[in-house]
Amino acid sequence: DTRDPTSLRTPIVAVLGHVDHGKTSLLDKIRGSAVIEGEAGAITQHIGATAVPLDIISTIAGDLVDPDDFDLPGLLFIDTPGHHSFTTLRSRGGALADIAILVVDVNDGFQPQTLEALDILRRSETPFIVAANKIDTVPGWNANEDSPINDTYEAQSDRVRERLDENLYEIIGNLSDEGFSADLYWRVQNFQRNVGVVPVSAMTGEGVPDLLTVMMGLSQRYMKEEMEIDVAGPGVGTVLEVKEEKGFGTTVDTVLYDGTIRSDDQLVVGGQNEPIVTDVRALLQPRPLAEIRTESRFEKVDEVSAASGIKVAAPELADAMAGAPVRVVRDRDLDEVIAEVQAE
Ligand code: GTP
Ligand code: MG
Repeated sequence: DTRDPTSLRTPIVAVLGHVDHGKTSLLDKIRGSAVIEGEAGAITQHIGATAVPLDIISTIAGDLVDPDDFDLPGLLFIDTPGHHSFTTLRSRGGALADIAILVVDVNDGFQPQTLEALDILRRSETPFIVAANKIDTVPGWNANEDSPINDTYEAQSDRVRERLDENLYEIIGNLSDEGFSADLYWRVQNFQRNVGVVPVSAMTGEGVPDLLTVMMGLSQRYMKEEMEIDVAGPGVGTVLEVKEEKGFGTTVDTVLYDGTIRSDDQLVVGGQNEPIVTDVRALLQPRPLAEIRTESRFEKVDEVSAASGIKVAAPELADAMAGAPVRVVRDRDLDEVIAEVQAE
């Protein structure tokens, strides 16, 4: 490995919001694949991780993102389900995230899981922006595929613009009621103090260039130091899901947020009763732009560095728990690592 020992990892972005407000569609638009069509029913039952490299972000954002202005490698998106019964998946996603997108249907406005997501973000102190989604459903909307918001805004009639503005200001008002000072993103100077609202359509791609630009800018500006990791160090992550996998037995879908995990590493994983000490049998990684739950797209890899979503196959994982810590032992004292896992 010829990389600098400290390097900048990919920020982890949780996508949160009320059921059907368009979280999966938005990611789907970004990655340009049809994960949504493979979903059972309308509910997202799993958390998936999607790595979007900087050059793809730059392609989508067009003139808005010059890759030379950024040294973060891209963004790692975690989709979460909006259905009310999946509170733990949402909290887990929120707790893991460096930054978040709260998706709000611009016509439907604030709903119970919007408020719940805000609570999660408030408690975990995760910086976020609001994607005011489905702008194409404003009656009379004149769609301009994949266009930046400013261009498409100018192409609307006064009536349509007023209608959209009304809905956007209602969302800004709701955020204010919840104690978040917010404004349309192009008016926000300091994204640490104010929440930027980005009008988008996951259907037409309008505003998606803006959304990615704001996310990259926010990460670069405010998270750069937090993204500095010892990339070759022992891996640290969190279990998103425990799953049986044909040919591999029990596996843990893990988001790695620090260091590296190798296919010959010893691991300590949080278990239902006590920490599990085990050896990696296989590391299964989604290809770039693929989704962790689309099994056919896995490839066996020798090592993975943060941040990534990976499936770890290892013996003894039957007692592993979603939300539990995963730590690589490598040349450290096993008892110390066990103690760290117990303390989390
Ligand atoms: P859960 O995972 O169940 O919480 O829902 P979700 O937030 O992931 O919503 P999803 O992306 O599944 O979208 C719900 C429905 O809204 C689908 O029928 C989408 O096609 C539709 N939809 C999403 N975004 C847009 C949009 O920008 N415009 C329009 N017109 N429809 C949209
Ligand atoms: Mg979904």
